[in-house]
Amino acid sequence: MIEFPSKFFWGAATSSYQVEGNNINSDWWQWEQRVGLKERSGEACRHYQFYKEDFNIAKQLGHNAHRLSVEWSRIEPRENNFSEQELRHYLEVIDCLKAQGIEPIVTLHHFTNPLWFVESGGWLGKRSAEYFLGYVEKVVSVLCGRVSFWVTINEPMVYVYHAYILGIWPPQEKSFFKARKVIENLISAHLKAYRLIHAIYQKNNLARPMVSIAKNMQAFQPCGRSLRNKLAARLRDKLFNFDFINKLIRRSALDFIGINYYSRALVDVRGWRISNLLLDVCQDNHSRLKKNSLGWDIYPQGLSELLLKLKRYNLPIFILENGICTDDDTQRWDFIYAHLKSLSLAINQGAHILGYIYWSLIDNYEWDKGFAPRFGLIEIDYANFKRTPRESAWKLAKVCQTARLNGNDG
Ligand code: BGC
Repeated sequence: MIEFPSKFFWGAATSSYQVEGNNINSDWWQWEQRVGLKERSGEACRHYQFYKEDFNIAKQLGHNAHRLSVEWSRIEPRENNFSEQELRHYLEVIDCLKAQGIEPIVTLHHFTNPLWFVESGGWLGKRSAEYFLGYVEKVVSVLCGRVSFWVTINEPMVYVYHAYILGIWPPQEKSFFKARKVIENLISAHLKAYRLIHAIYQKNNLARPMVSIAKNMQAFQPCGRSLRNKLAARLRDKLFNFDFINKLIRRSALDFIGINYYSRALVDVRGWRISNLLLDVCQDNHSRLKKNSLGWDIYPQGLSELLLKLKRYNLPIFILENGICTDDDTQRWDFIYAHLKSLSLAINQGAHILGYIYWSLIDNYEWDKGFAPRFGLIEIDYANFKRTPRESAWKLAKVCQTARLNGNDG
């Protein structure tokens, strides 16, 4: 039997665009229509209407925390034009969580942008951080009395990788030069937002909030013994996993480290060019590990390995996403069980962990992959939007309620 700290946050995450539906003022919405994406977000999970029902289930599942995002394009559909109605909506959403005794962890940017922002140059624009700040100021001023945990930006490097290097997400750029610029602007946006959030709390005589980002981390491993693969794996670990965090920590702009962990990446490069070193992935199926339904390796040890590397920063760590898409719910529980074991190993070796948030509370819109990947603790029947908690959700509920992990049978 494994015991977790008695004071620990347990819960699950969602992001506005993936669950709410009808985010028509967002760049993603426009892009889905323009490129004729096969599966478009449409009504998504109708979480905008059904959030109460979803949070009631979260409560029954023993969750005491929930990570959600607020949608910039709803709150500021036109530049400097804030929707009081949408702000009220998010106030009600947060109040609903608080009434259930569930701690809200609020993300301000989760991959999507308002159309007007993108038309002004998006994250490449000189004024991008400034625009973001206008929105942050409004949202935080409205929600500050109720929220203690803020995540400014979700997975900045994943966003940059998909949208500015691979070019498979809007705005579909493929340029290292532009990617670098966007990274600089995202760093600047976080630094400014971090200071602004703290200033708003101070001005309102509120207790100091905890502010961070959600950093996706992958366990990069070389294929075989080749020196080139080893160097490339080390380079990616540095550039993808640590550089962004290092820059923020150097400026004292993280109160905790938020991490999202899913998988390992096998590195097998076919040349010495920078694009080879940074982008080539293993094509030869060297991995014998089990995979999720998107083909990602399941590698629970990676979680404790990364957590132990993060110990050197002496900051508390929050697992803000960890999860699996699968059509086999037994596999989901096996995944959760193995990752909780790995997490407890890191805790026993001195990692200071605030909590564990599973991705995701409900099945949802997995971006360009559509609705097929099922990440939810709660199943969504898209024909009638019926919610049904899965067996794995009840098994995890026992852990949330007792802070104990028994045998793999739950
Ligand atoms: C993102 C989510 C996404 C999940 C599964 C994370 O990278 O924050 O938006 O659905 O991974 O791919």
